[in-house]
Amino acid sequence: MFTPRDAPYPELKKTHTMAHKGRPWTDYKPPPAAPVWAAIEGLGRYYILVAALELDIFDALQRTGPTTVERLAEELDVPVDHLRSLLDGVVALELLDQFTDIYELNDAAKRYLVSDGPATMADLIGVAPGPHENWTRLADTVRNGRPATPIEDDPAAFYVPLVEGTFTTMFRCATRADLKIRYSAVTAPRVLDLGAGGAPWAIAILNGCPDGTAVINDIDGVIEVAERKIAEHGVAERCELRPGDFHTIDIEPGGYDIVVLGHICRTEGAEGARHLIERAFTALKPEGRLILADYFTDIERKFNPHAVIMGTTMMASTERGFTFTHQEFSEWLREAGFTQLRLVEPIGFQQSFVATRPAASVGSGSE
Ligand SMILES: C[S@@+](CC[C@H](N)C(=O)[O-])C[C@H]1O[C@@H](n2cnc3c(N)ncnc32)[C@H](O)[C@@H]1O
Repeated sequence: MFTPRDAPYPELKKTHTMAHKGRPWTDYKPPPAAPVWAAIEGLGRYYILVAALELDIFDALQRTGPTTVERLAEELDVPVDHLRSLLDGVVALELLDQFTDIYELNDAAKRYLVSDGPATMADLIGVAPGPHENWTRLADTVRNGRPATPIEDDPAAFYVPLVEGTFTTMFRCATRADLKIRYSAVTAPRVLDLGAGGAPWAIAILNGCPDGTAVINDIDGVIEVAERKIAEHGVAERCELRPGDFHTIDIEPGGYDIVVLGHICRTEGAEGARHLIERAFTALKPEGRLILADYFTDIERKFNPHAVIMGTTMMASTERGFTFTHQEFSEWLREAGFTQLRLVEPIGFQQSFVATRPAASVGSGSE
């Protein structure tokens, strides 16, 4: 006898309705929960790394070489079981290696986490996300349109450790940028570095240009970091420190070959960022160049999660901060009068716009 077979994917039948089954039949495969777990684990992952740095684990492993948890626990004077749990967490983060119970630094740890590593980020990790307590109040910040304690309340307290922590990376980027920008080909350039932090850009450019001079700006309380760094790098006598607010300090019009806006636009909001671009335009000599370094999102604000989350980080801890798209910056640069726009990435994740003030200026260039 012929028995009709049910289709592999039958249409919804009466017997499959909510009334009979509680929920309709579906061939829908549920999505994995991995992105949810990744978010939950994000907090633990971050604090595992913070604790490992606080306990000096990476520097200790550099001293001891590959070793057992018992030997490391003795070296650090902490209980073995707790240390093993933390070390295994760092191994899960792929920032240490463990083989037959011997722990050792891997290449990433040697480069980024040992305090004297060639590209160390050790001092940056604690400060990079902004004040940690602002993350626990993020929903309130969204509700109120501003964080309860923005970093602008006490900028020097936040920026001094930040710019000390970012110096190594930004200095590498600024030094490597010469391969793309060839600032070293400019004769005796005059450089303006606004919101310079430790002045990684000004120092790198002066290193590449033995006859160059620089005006270095930052707020009182932070500019002292630049003062120390320019002395350490032997370029202090070619630098003028000009403390104050980069929106209002005096800047000689048409006085500079290179103006640097290094990671300062994203705290200023669209209006503030445009004002800084216009100030840079006015400050440049004809054919002078602006270097504008920041984290830029793509046009749909979703293909570069690093820049997107940097924007959320700004929102969490600053009064006006957001990240902006490449397109927005391109438009603002063109509207200010810049031409020959280029985007360079001297090292991974560090992009800069390079733009030229044309010989015959067509833009507003007004303050
Ligand atoms: C993210 S850091 C960037 C430092 C450096 N330009 C770099 O690229 O590494 C931002 C800098 O801008 C400075 N800054 C913030 N607001 C400022 C203002 N209104 N006037 C001058 N500097 C300011 C901060 O003190 C800090 O040094």
